Amino acid sequence: TRTTVGIVGGGPAGLMLSHLLHRAGVDSVVVDNRTRHEIEQTVRAGILEHDSVRLLVDSGVSDRALREGHEHRGIDLAFGGSGHRIDFPSLAGASVWLYPQTDVFIDLAAARERDGGDVRFGISDTRVVDVTSDRPGILFTDADGVAQEVRCHYLVGADGSRSICRQQITDRRDHFREYPFAWFGILCDAPPSAPELIYNHSDRGFALISQRTDTVQRMYFQCDPTEDVADWSDDRIWEELQARVGANGYTLQEGPITSKTVLPFRSYVCEPMRHGNLLLAGDAAHTVPPTGAKGLNLALADVRLLAEQLELAIRKDDPTVLDDYTDRALARVWKSQHFSYWMTTMLHSLPDASAFDARRQIGELDSVVTSRAGSAYLAEAYCGWPSA
Ligand code: DHB
Repeated sequence: TRTTVGIVGGGPAGLMLSHLLHRAGVDSVVVDNRTRHEIEQTVRAGILEHDSVRLLVDSGVSDRALREGHEHRGIDLAFGGSGHRIDFPSLAGASVWLYPQTDVFIDLAAARERDGGDVRFGISDTRVVDVTSDRPGILFTDADGVAQEVRCHYLVGADGSRSICRQQITDRRDHFREYPFAWFGILCDAPPSAPELIYNHSDRGFALISQRTDTVQRMYFQCDPTEDVADWSDDRIWEELQARVGANGYTLQEGPITSKTVLPFRSYVCEPMRHGNLLLAGDAAHTVPPTGAKGLNLALADVRLLAEQLELAIRKDDPTVLDDYTDRALARVWKSQHFSYWMTTMLHSLPDASAFDARRQIGELDSVVTSRAGSAYLAEAYCGWPSA
């Protein structure tokens, strides 16, 4: 198969890029080694920045986020015995939408199908070749076991944190940061415990009370990275969550727990994000710790920029248009890295924290909620910066 842009990875980044290119009259082929069903079953984050929602709606993917999602005009920062609301509209002139990433994927996959997009799920043995030539290729075995080859002008790696495309960037620098904790994530059948999300600091560790629908809730609590979900009965989980939020005056609505997983925590940036005619987008190029829900939003910001630049490069037949892709994408990436790192380190208990560290953390949280400037930074970053 010949196409203009070959895209490895059919998650939200790859599909959104393919959709935006299609709207600009540029053809693409998307491949993913997972089945559509597998991706739909993966539980991911649930907060969309203002501009992420706009991108979905204005580019004609779907307006389901507006109809079925919920606008959130603030969050609660809970610490030191009580909750403190951060009000987004008055501080940042914006809001966010609670709309699960799984639904973003479902909408994008449906839009690509509706528009006749070439998306191949459930493939195997994927290899990318000749990325510095003017005819890069994707070699793979399709879902029927037949060897296939896609040749393209530009190859995009949107293949997630364990990217195979990234390995082609031989001159890259890997920027890593590890954290000595993880999140224990649950889904439960219960009504919401509060109108908005609660980011809860406590002596027992962080907890995040998020939501999915009127009847399904998503919650997380800081745990050891080696924690085994088998050791956590529903009763033990509720006891731990209630203890953490109870310290700040909240009580959770309990219900049957339908999913338990331990989520890894790390910061990672690949520099540069381009090598020859290979370009990376989303988690393939960077991972943020989950606190603040920047991962999906950052991936969508990458592909919004990349689609624009690819369209221009192809129309002008001039690959130098892509020369500043890395710098422009990384400017936002590092702001998001900082925000995610800041939220993480401000809200979690470090295993070896001294009394000084613990009290300084309360001082930091107090500074944020009692300063308009401090709260405004949080609100602006949470709702998302304007695109560069
Ligand atoms: C969710 C996850 C996050 O990391 C976050 O900051 C907010 C919400 C979620 O899964 O709902």
